[in-house]
Amino acid sequence: MTAVCFGLASGILAAFIKSKPTRRDKGIMRYQGIIFDLDGVICFTDKYHYQAWKALADEIGVYFDETINNRLRGVSRMASLDIILERSEKEYTQEEKEQMAAKKNEVYRGLLQQMSEADLSAEVKETLDVLRASGAKLAIGSSSKNAKLILGRIGLGDYFDAISDGTNITHSKPNPEVFLKAAEFLGLDPKDCLVVEDALAGIEAAVAGGFDGAGIGEAATHEKVSWPIKTFADLKQIQGA
Ligand code: BG6
Ligand code: MG
Repeated sequence: MTAVCFGLASGILAAFIKSKPTRRDKGIMRYQGIIFDLDGVICFTDKYHYQAWKALADEIGVYFDETINNRLRGVSRMASLDIILERSEKEYTQEEKEQMAAKKNEVYRGLLQQMSEADLSAEVKETLDVLRASGAKLAIGSSSKNAKLILGRIGLGDYFDAISDGTNITHSKPNPEVFLKAAEFLGLDPKDCLVVEDALAGIEAAVAGGFDGAGIGEAATHEKVSWPIKTFADLKQIQGA
C-alpha cells in the first residue's frame, strides 16, 4: 500500500515537473544577473592597446603586429607584456618590466582621452536598457585596471550595479576570479548569472566559475560557450526580454 501511494505521489510529481512552464515560457527573465566583459563587448579599445604596445615594442626593437595584439584580449597588462617579450632577445628584470608596463599604460590612457559617448553604440545602449528592464542586475567583469576610466568616457560611469575589474583581482582570465567577484558584488550565485565575452580566455573563465557564457566574435567558437551570438542585441532573445 505504502509502495503504491509512493508510486502514485512520485508519478504526480513527475507529471507536475514535466508540465511546469520554464521561466522562459512564462516570459520571465532567464538570468538574474548579466556580467559583461568591457573591452570588445561594450566598447572597443583594441586599437588603443595596439598603438600603445606598438610604441613600446618599436622602442625596444621587438616585432609586434595585430595578430600578436589579438592574443592579448582579456589578458592582464603584465601577462600581455610577457607575450610581447616572447620575441625579445634580451631578458628584463621585474623592475624593468614594471617600468615598461607603466609607460605603455601612460600612452594608453592618453589615447583613451579620444573616447567619448560616441564610442557607445546605440545597439549596446538600447540592449543594456532592455536587459535591465527585464529585471536583471548588470555588472562589468573586466581584467582592465582602466575600466572605470573607460566607462566614464563612454557615459556609463554610473550605469552598472557592480564593477569588478583589474583593481580587485589577483588572477586574470582564464581564472574566474573577476566574474566570481562580480557575482558576489551583485549578491547572486554564478549559476543565476550570464557572462558575456569576446575572448576565448573569458569563456574559459566563465565556465570555470560555474557561469553560462554568451560568446561574441572569436568567443562564439569556444566549445563550452552556452550561447554563441552574432550581435550584442541577440542577448535580448537569450534573456526573453
Ligand atoms: C582587458 C583587455 O580587458 O584588459 C586586455 O582585453 C588588457 O587587452 C587588459 O591587457 C588589461 O588592461 P589594462 O587597462 O589594465 O592595461
Ligand atoms: Mg574582451
